Amino acid sequence: MRIAVIGTGYVGLVAACCLAKSGHEVIAVEKDKSKLNMLQNGMLPIYEEGLSDIFEHITKDKRIVFSHDLKGALRHVDMAMIAVGTPATSDGRVDLSQVNEVAASIAEFSQKPMTVVMKSTVPPGTGEMLLRRYFSKANADIEYISNPEFLREGKAVWDWYNPDRIVIGSSSRDSANLLAEVYDDIKAPKIIMDITSAEMVKYASNAFLATKISFINEIANLCERVGADIDDVAPAVGMDKRIGKHFLQAGLGYGGSCFPKDTKGLEYISLFNDYDFNLLKAVIEVNAKQRVIAVRKVVQALGGDVMGKNIAVLGLAFKPGTDDVREAPALDIIDHLCSDGAKVNACDPMAIENAKKILKNNGVKFYSNPYEACAGCEAVILATEWPEFLKLNWKAIKESMKPPFVLLDGRNALDRGVIVSCGYEYYSFGRRTKRL
Ligand code: UDX
Repeated sequence: MRIAVIGTGYVGLVAACCLAKSGHEVIAVEKDKSKLNMLQNGMLPIYEEGLSDIFEHITKDKRIVFSHDLKGALRHVDMAMIAVGTPATSDGRVDLSQVNEVAASIAEFSQKPMTVVMKSTVPPGTGEMLLRRYFSKANADIEYISNPEFLREGKAVWDWYNPDRIVIGSSSRDSANLLAEVYDDIKAPKIIMDITSAEMVKYASNAFLATKISFINEIANLCERVGADIDDVAPAVGMDKRIGKHFLQAGLGYGGSCFPKDTKGLEYISLFNDYDFNLLKAVIEVNAKQRVIAVRKVVQALGGDVMGKNIAVLGLAFKPGTDDVREAPALDIIDHLCSDGAKVNACDPMAIENAKKILKNNGVKFYSNPYEACAGCEAVILATEWPEFLKLNWKAIKESMKPPFVLLDGRNALDRGVIVSCGYEYYSFGRRTKRL
């Protein structure tokens, strides 16, 4: 099929490349000139595991074209996938301006029947609104499908080919079947439903995963108070198949471009629809609180005041395997410590450049070498569980530090036996210092 993918962010670009690899003819439309220039010159503007191999292959075989010209692209395709940004506004609302702009253009420029597929995360009800506002008045017949994505950053290519399900929201069985054919090579249940329900699946999925994380974080906080160990509790809870073992890792909580935005977006949607989603509010609050608890643990361990103290923060990305620092717990923690007068050394294998854009004017020193970052510090916070940090020589690090040798394992990821035997004061979220 000939498909236009509009927007080449991490969702649009992965979709465009994978669709081309599956044999479709793809025109990827991007209006940002510098991004387009990179793509047209054979360079990827983002890092995603496995994407560069696919990109090289499909550009060499000319199975994908990059263009700024939406109107021109629409002349050549039978399907248009919208994958533009839907950022949050300051009050948590979802900003649909880019979606509206693209929908208006498709309605204006379409000259032949076409299927429009929404990949961007949009609030339930958006598809029906777009149909009413734009597509029902278009020049040509337009079928609309909601087809949410569940791609994890860093694993997006794997997730594209190995989804647990493909959700297709449509008011027409024929167009739903047409999209199912586009994904013919992907072995996963294809679930067809109405448009608004498909939109809700995306929000409900992310909100539920965020709920699991906040839930286990609350249990971890309680474990500390009653003397239980979260490393024993969480896996045993997760072994119940009705609960499931994933997303029960306690620690600093979730960050990134999706969970924070989508949970707050759903809270706003609830309010707007006259519904008080109390559980979701608590999930968001617990997640924010974990960062404060982390700072409190370090401040107390350093005698109640961090003024003039040297603290290393290992990990700036919101999770390992990405340079993305959006809503990363480390940045809030650093901001708090700096405003309390601490001198922070920040270290990350990939995310320093992105972090520098946010952490301005607060004297943070950036290091790519964790040993240099920790030297001379009274405390170290592990904020992102990069594999290279887990394998550090913690004995050597302790020897380069100053007392009281505080280590906050913000992801419950280190071998606490090793850490304690090195002589650190070890803090975590819900782990006992010694395991039975
Ligand atoms: C998420 C969803 O997984 C994906 O389906 C959706 O489409 C986009 O949002 P992503 O943001 O890439 O993907 O990150 P993910 O790997 O899901 O982790 C999200 C955050 O939760 C990270 O900050 C991670 O550290 C944290 N997390 C995850 C925990 O704190 N505990 C866990 O048990 C799991």
